[in-house]
Amino acid sequence: MFTREFGIDLGTMFTRVVEGKRLLFAEPTMAAIVVDEQKMVAWGQEALDMYGKVPETIEVIRPLQNGVIADYEVTENMLKWLLRKMSGPFRIVPPRVMITVPYGITSVESRAVHEAILEAGTREAYLIQQPLAAAIGAEMPIGTPSGNMLLCLGGGTTQAAVLAMYGIVVAETMRSGGLALDDAIVNYTRKKYGLIIGQLTAEQIKIKIGAAIPQEQEDAMDIQGQDQVTGLPRGITITTGEIVEAIQDPLKDICETARRVLEKTPPELVSDIIDRGIALTGGGALLRGLDRLITKELGVPAYLVDNPATAVAEGAARGIQMVPILKRNLPQT
Ligand SMILES: Nc1ncnc2c1ncn2[C@@H]1O[C@H](COP(=O)(O)OP(=O)(O)OP(=O)(O)O)[C@@H](O)[C@H]1O
Ligand SMILES: [Mg+2]
Repeated sequence: MFTREFGIDLGTMFTRVVEGKRLLFAEPTMAAIVVDEQKMVAWGQEALDMYGKVPETIEVIRPLQNGVIADYEVTENMLKWLLRKMSGPFRIVPPRVMITVPYGITSVESRAVHEAILEAGTREAYLIQQPLAAAIGAEMPIGTPSGNMLLCLGGGTTQAAVLAMYGIVVAETMRSGGLALDDAIVNYTRKKYGLIIGQLTAEQIKIKIGAAIPQEQEDAMDIQGQDQVTGLPRGITITTGEIVEAIQDPLKDICETARRVLEKTPPELVSDIIDRGIALTGGGALLRGLDRLITKELGVPAYLVDNPATAVAEGAARGIQMVPILKRNLPQT
């Protein structure tokens, strides 16, 4: 009998599971709950599809907020469903897993993740900090005494870290991420056009036509919303340039987080970082022109890794094989 091993990236927006090198699962970290019975009736994509479209008796929630568990029971339930789905009908031996947590959360917050995954039915569970997992997943040369810098741009967190010798040398977590860009777009269309749009619509606009810096080729998108005064449906056309303007403030916060980490980095490591550049990981790294914005703001070249969205989960899966090397750099539980 063999034990299966999963790397799990438990994100604010997405939960991803990797086994070996294979991505087995990637779905929204969402759950639909029947309010009266506090019973989970759907999770993942199915729950997201219900978002904003269900009667009051059902509540669709994100059990994680800004990278940490906000609703313990729902999270544990979701992980239970997830493990059951991953193991299939022939589940015999509970799996070993490595599950990710943001850098710098409290020991209470990380213990909650550890407990939830054990309770959900694992035999052995390790925690790993997301920047370390991302660096392993992106195959950065972090095993040497030299500086490697990366940003993890998630939906609810922004993490900047410098790594060497399989450990984090300097890092910082800002508890806000891609969702803050979506909120900025919601505010922009309300202020400029008196039009109310939902957060999910704002995210679609960002992904489809958004950019971090002005683009030579402007895209446009027709969107529907609700007139702020009359409450009636109304449409407008919005352009890339407007989105760039809308999201400047939260982008500035991301750059500031990176800048503070760079400032705290020992000078010996800074020269390596200037040579190698700053790796961008996380779904948020896919924003057009973000590499150029960060390069400009920090004066250090930034580049997108090959697997931005899945690097963290892939690193967690590989991390299980590396426990003896990583052990002293993993959060204690
Ligand atoms: N093409 C794109 N352009 C801009 N943003 C994008 C794009 N694709 C995904 N995103 C954003 O990436 C974010 C999700 O990234 P990711 O899946 O890494 O988050 P997460 O791991 O669930 O969250 P966290 O790490 O903060 O807990 C969302 O805010 C999403 O809007
Ligand atoms: Mg993440």
